[in-house]
Amino acid sequence: MASGVCKLPLPLQREAEVQARGPLDRRLAPVPSAETSLAAQSKRAELETVEAVDTLRQRVDGWRQAGLKVGFVPTMGALHQGHLSLVAAARQRVDRVVVSIFVNPTQFGHGEDLDSYPRQPRRDAEMLRGAGCDLLFLPKVETVYPPGHGTWVELQGAPAVGLEADHRPGHFRGVATVVTLLLNLVRPDLAVFGKKDAQQLALVRRVVRDLHLAVEIVGAPIVREDDGLAMSSRNAFLNPEERRAATILKRALVAAREEIERGERRADAIRALLRTLLDSEPLATVEYAEVVDAETFLPLDEVAGAVVLPLAVRIGHGTHSTRLLDNLQLSLP
Ligand code: PAJ
Repeated sequence: MASGVCKLPLPLQREAEVQARGPLDRRLAPVPSAETSLAAQSKRAELETVEAVDTLRQRVDGWRQAGLKVGFVPTMGALHQGHLSLVAAARQRVDRVVVSIFVNPTQFGHGEDLDSYPRQPRRDAEMLRGAGCDLLFLPKVETVYPPGHGTWVELQGAPAVGLEADHRPGHFRGVATVVTLLLNLVRPDLAVFGKKDAQQLALVRRVVRDLHLAVEIVGAPIVREDDGLAMSSRNAFLNPEERRAATILKRALVAAREEIERGERRADAIRALLRTLLDSEPLATVEYAEVVDAETFLPLDEVAGAVVLPLAVRIGHGTHSTRLLDNLQLSLP
């Protein structure tokens, strides 16, 4: 996920609840008032919401004993149609769907947007209620990371090197750890992740394989706005001018796909094309525009096989910029 957002539109500001920041142990400190209020808000929306592991397990165990298959969609909230599409994808495959909302402090680096990350649990619960979610898991920080927590899941090597790993040191350790913990807490048969965060999805697949976790991982397609912008909780931070500029990501990917369809197979030529197009947008600052193998996320020389073109681009100026991710996934002979 993206970082470095300082602006917060007013409606989000009202709903935003600031968690403790600072060194890791301080970030993991309990924040009872904020969490209690999260649960209270979502309860008013009448979606069954659980905070405690015991209650979560009772529910999930009950379903499994009744022979029902359970799916799981982990999120950080501020939900949009992209998240809801994951719920729908789970719903198609299983009998019951659990969604978690947990703004995971350990995947945010210093100077990133943990404090300002949009929090709107009441609206989220309302959206989930009509979207095929059976249970909302809204854990406290100290439920996921009890005092004394000291075990981390860290993938060494591909696909946890390069790209997001370079630009957000420690991010994937936080993601791999929280996904493992959430999978162990919920114990679903299946979990759905978005292809929007393609490197994260590759990382999760690898962690699940390496740790022999008994869960099927499903990747769901990227959901976009009408103008092509990939939906993201952070799009709310874009002002109208930045919002228009942000369409450059999708436009660059479309141009790259057309070039590949015309027969271009040199990865460097595609990288150069992406750069040129992205650099043509004055509000865009490119962090990376790559051509990588879909499983390892290592750079390719030739556009062949299962390929991803991942982009990370900052839209806007300086500390007020918003970091956006997008990608194109192709399967070529
Ligand atoms: P979050 O950013 O809330 O995203 C939750 C899930 O929604 C991820 O699997 C992400 O890929 C998917 N998603 C986001 N935007 C999407 C879009 N436009 N189309 C399709 N899917 C989309 O990713 C995280 O949270 C966290 O890292 C998490 C996995 C929950 C661990 O904390």
